[in-house]
Amino acid sequence: MKLWSGRFKADFDEVAELFNDSLPFDCAMYAQDITGSIAHCKMLCKCGIIEKTEADKIVKTLEAIKADIEAEKLEVVGAEDIHSFVENELVSRIGDVGKKLHTARSRNDQVATDIRLYVRDSIDNVTKLLRALVKTLADRAEAEISTAMPAYTHMQKAQPTTLGHYLAAYANMFLRDIERFTDCRKRVNILPLGSGAAVSTTFPIDRNYTAKLLGFDSVTENSLDGVSDRDFAIEYLSCASLTMLHLSRINEEFVYWSGGEFSFIKLPDEFSTGSSIMPQKKNPDVNELLRGKSGRVFGDLTAMLTVMKGLPLAYNKDMQEDKEPIFDADKTLNISLKVFTRMLAAVEFDRGAMAAAVEGGFSCATECADYLANKGVPFRTAHEVTGKIVLYCIENKKTLQTLTLKEFKEFSDKFDKGILDAVKAETAIAGRKVIGGCEKNELTRQIKVIREKIEK
Ligand code: ARG
Repeated sequence: MKLWSGRFKADFDEVAELFNDSLPFDCAMYAQDITGSIAHCKMLCKCGIIEKTEADKIVKTLEAIKADIEAEKLEVVGAEDIHSFVENELVSRIGDVGKKLHTARSRNDQVATDIRLYVRDSIDNVTKLLRALVKTLADRAEAEISTAMPAYTHMQKAQPTTLGHYLAAYANMFLRDIERFTDCRKRVNILPLGSGAAVSTTFPIDRNYTAKLLGFDSVTENSLDGVSDRDFAIEYLSCASLTMLHLSRINEEFVYWSGGEFSFIKLPDEFSTGSSIMPQKKNPDVNELLRGKSGRVFGDLTAMLTVMKGLPLAYNKDMQEDKEPIFDADKTLNISLKVFTRMLAAVEFDRGAMAAAVEGGFSCATECADYLANKGVPFRTAHEVTGKIVLYCIENKKTLQTLTLKEFKEFSDKFDKGILDAVKAETAIAGRKVIGGCEKNELTRQIKVIREKIEK
């Protein structure tokens, strides 16, 4: 039976019905819908709007319905949406008493409540997974605290750093994601129930009581806003997009690091695939997918922004379109964070290949210029002199590390034997002691801060 059957003479067109129904996807929030209804029912009872015996019966039956869905004893089909499904089921089990549940409530404030509960659950799960990822990054960074590798700018070797420094950089990105989700949760965790269809209700309800039962921090201040606000969903999708963006970036590193030209990492068999035609191949499919999945979550955010942008107050059916982007982002984040954390724990780093990459190129040229600057040569002049040394090396097939002191002295008489040590990668790394640098003690401090932040 339709929830609105009283006013209608003809049945809904069957194709229009398929188009209108949200049950095929909003069944995913059956648990939130039932939890919300139980709290609403208890509140109605507390406020004397329904009898205690009625409330008990409703609550008990709602719990049974939830258990039956969980146990797959009850198929969630045959209604317009999850709200009507649960209510129809309730009425079919206990008759007229069940019809009292919807007192002082509209599906508009009900759905707004359910989706907030869903987003809140997702945030709690995602932040837990992000913590596990950051912990794995910190563990692996700590183990690679002395593994030299080149830092790149413009994808060209720039200066020596360590793999630990690199991994800790990503840990910082994911830490910001945790902060963002945590902040977003504050605006998610506000109860809209009691807003009614648009302008609240004449029943003497106690919204704060319902909020307390459901773990909300407060209630929405304005009923028109309460039913039509989806800012929290947009914020959540924006947080989700940034997390996916960060996953995409680190996986881009892993894709090219695993390629023969770099060979910085060896992909674990458990996380790579072969080719159907080329027997030699070991492909970074998991990393590529992690990079690619960001596209769908950005799409979810764009969809949600676009759905909302032209909507007048208050509820409009367009807002039913909020579900699938949220469910999709939740599902994508969940599996992506899980698989990447497992992959990261198993990936093998090739320290030798990274060390060799530091030696090649001129990633210690800055050290040479800094050396002269420390001897009183203005930095711009030191930069110019070093540029000439690099050119000399290129033309004579030498490196900064193979030049003799005599050769250095031909470019500047400020050079002394200290320069031979100064252009070594270890020296360059050991010198970067300022906050944020790659020197061992400083990096140890950074990793400690990362660990403290996830434990908070
Ligand atoms: N399935 C609907 C949604 O997700 C529930 C709210 C329906 N309200 C209404 N006035 N038609 O938005």
